[in-house]
Amino acid sequence: MSFFERFFLNIPLPFSVWVYELSKLFLFKDIRTPGFDQAVQIVKSKGVKGDYLEFGVYKGNSLIKFYKLFQKYGLEDIRIFAFDAFKGLPVSEGGVFNKGEFHYPKDLFLRRMKKAGVDFKKILIVEGFFNTSLTEDVKKKHALSKAAVIHVDCDLYESTVDVLRFCENLVQEGTVLILDDYLSFQTVDIPENYGEEKAFKEWSLYPRFEELYEIGVSKAFVCKTLK
Ligand SMILES: C[S@@+](CC[C@H](N)C(=O)[O-])C[C@H]1O[C@@H](n2cnc3c(N)ncnc32)[C@H](O)[C@@H]1O
Repeated sequence: MSFFERFFLNIPLPFSVWVYELSKLFLFKDIRTPGFDQAVQIVKSKGVKGDYLEFGVYKGNSLIKFYKLFQKYGLEDIRIFAFDAFKGLPVSEGGVFNKGEFHYPKDLFLRRMKKAGVDFKKILIVEGFFNTSLTEDVKKKHALSKAAVIHVDCDLYESTVDVLRFCENLVQEGTVLILDDYLSFQTVDIPENYGEEKAFKEWSLYPRFEELYEIGVSKAFVCKTLK
């Protein structure tokens, strides 16, 4: 853990919230922010119902961003789901991602949320590796039936296959799908044979989606129609 990270986790509230906001404004800007903002605006303007689902949360940076954007746009009723095993990547892929990378323990994730000003009791955490944790029982338990935003940030092909299979009956017209590492395999010979891009193009609902934006290595899509 970096010095800044350890320092941040020990700052008392509410000062930690200000430090978090200032560090994101001046030190650790996230180029994905305009895309996230656009996704939330679409959900608001089209009145897309359903929840925010993030698959792969790591330290919570993107989850915190979406939490704050939903507040900014008066969409606090949207439930936020965090799916992760909190054990890092389960396998390596393509020489780009390595097994165990992005390991961040759940207790630190929760502490970081709190220090950033997130009421983490509002975050629904589904812990475990996706091949066993993404079940129909989870949907029943949380009355999860529609997704407004699906944020896939689990990097790997196998993980994304599990995620998209789980999301199949949650997608509706207007659902925004963010694939955070769509273009992360540009250094390998045939990038479309890897990762989130391969899983997405193989998915039965792929033809229903239209591209919304490309920022850095991420791409986002909107579901046009299910018919
Ligand atoms: C790149 S990090 C997510 C970063 C985060 N969304 C952000 O922008 O701040 C990838 C995360 O995916 C999780 N992950 C990948 N494959 C997984 C799987 N099959 N099951 C559970 N978690 C997985 C890892 O544990 C890791 O926390």
